[in-house]
Amino acid sequence: MIKKMNKAIVSPSILSADHANFEKAVIEIDASGASWLHMDIMDGSFVPNLTFGPQLVHALRKKTKAFFDVHLMITQPSRLFREFADAGADAITFHYEAEVHSQKFLAEIRSFGLKAGIAIVPSTPVSILEEVLPFIDIALIMTVNPGFSGQELIPECLEKVKKMSKMRKDAGLSFRISVDGGINEATAEKAADAGADVFVIGSAFFNSSGKKGLVDRIQGDGIKENPA
Ligand code: DX5
Ligand code: ZN
Repeated sequence: MIKKMNKAIVSPSILSADHANFEKAVIEIDASGASWLHMDIMDGSFVPNLTFGPQLVHALRKKTKAFFDVHLMITQPSRLFREFADAGADAITFHYEAEVHSQKFLAEIRSFGLKAGIAIVPSTPVSILEEVLPFIDIALIMTVNPGFSGQELIPECLEKVKKMSKMRKDAGLSFRISVDGGINEATAEKAADAGADVFVIGSAFFNSSGKKGLVDRIQGDGIKENPA
C-alpha cells in the first residue's frame, strides 16, 4: 500500500508581522486561508533574539480560531510550557538541543491534549530523533539558524528533510514534517518534494501582496503521494 502524505499546511510566522499591530496580522492570516499560525518564542539565550511570551498568545487567542503553532526557542522549555498551553497553544514545538528529557516532555505535551513537536537546528542530524519518532506529531527541521526572519534557506537542510521523510516512511508513521526559515513559493516546492508538509512562512507571507494566492498554491487542494 502506498502511504499518503499529509495535506500541505501553511503556517505564517507573526515574527515577520508589524509588532505594533498583531491583530492586523491575525486578520490577514485568517483571510489568506492559511490553516495554522506560527509563533516564535525567543529567550535571548537559546537564540540571540527576544520576542514575545504567553501574554501575546493569550491575547491573540481571543481574536482567531486559527491553530496556534507555538515554536519555543528557549532553554529548558519544559519549565515554561504550561503557560503557553494555558494561553491557548494548539501545538508546542521545542528544540531537541534545549531539553535533556525529550521523550518525557513530548509525552507531557500530549497529555495536555496538544500536538507535540520537536525541532532541530541545521547542525543537528535528523538521526538523533530516531528514538522519539513514536512520540512526535511534528518534526520541525530548521532551514536557517534560528533567531531571525528574513534569512536565506540553507539548501543542505533539504537533504535532512528527505532523510526525515524516509525515517517517517520506514517507521510507518504519519507525523508532520515542518520546515521553517527562508520558505517562499519556490523553496516550499523544493521542501514539499523532499517530504515536508508544514511550511512556516514569515517574510515571504507578510511581504506578499497576494497572500491568499500564495497560500492556495502551496496548500493545494488535496493529498499527494508521499515522495519518500
Ligand atoms: C526563525 C523563526 C522563523 C521565522 C521565519 O528563527 O523560527 O519562524 O519567523 O521567517 P522567514 O520565513 O522570514 O525566514
Ligand atoms: Zn519558527
